[in-house]
Amino acid sequence: MQNKIMLALLPLLMLSLPATARETATDNYKTYCVQCHGIDGNGRGINIRDMSVQPRDHTDVKSMSARSDDTIFKVIKEGGPSIEKSILMPPWGDTLSDEEIHDMVQHLRTLCKCKFGS
Ligand code: HEC
Repeated sequence: MQNKIMLALLPLLMLSLPATARETATDNYKTYCVQCHGIDGNGRGINIRDMSVQPRDHTDVKSMSARSDDTIFKVIKEGGPSIEKSILMPPWGDTLSDEEIHDMVQHLRTLCKCKFGS
């Protein structure tokens, strides 16, 4: 009986997976990014007073649409210097999986409401 209920629930569980992935990017952003990039992603996190290079405003359409998803992936995974930006942008490759970084790129696209080239 219980097995049947589990089987019936399985498709529902599978349907809810993408939603979970999106939530994870939001959570990861809150955990790892807001202290510099700000709660709203506007580049005004709590650390900025002491930073010589200011974090990117992720809501800024002009600068965010100038970057391809691949470049954004790379700078998150390998850090600022990998795209000739400041070392103050840390590499997250040891903290976030490739999948989580892909989700994060999509999350940043929702913050700027933009994509590469527009
Ligand atoms: C210790 C502060 C700090 C933290 C934490 C941080 N960043 Fe950054 N980030 C920066 C700074 C500073 C820059 C700007 C570097 C520059 O302009 O040279 C930057 C730049 C970026 C850029 C490049 C934007 C561009 O096109 O130039 C992306 C994308 C980015 N951060 C994403 C993230 C994500 C996602 C996280 C969390 C996983 C994160 N950052 C956490 C400081 C931080």
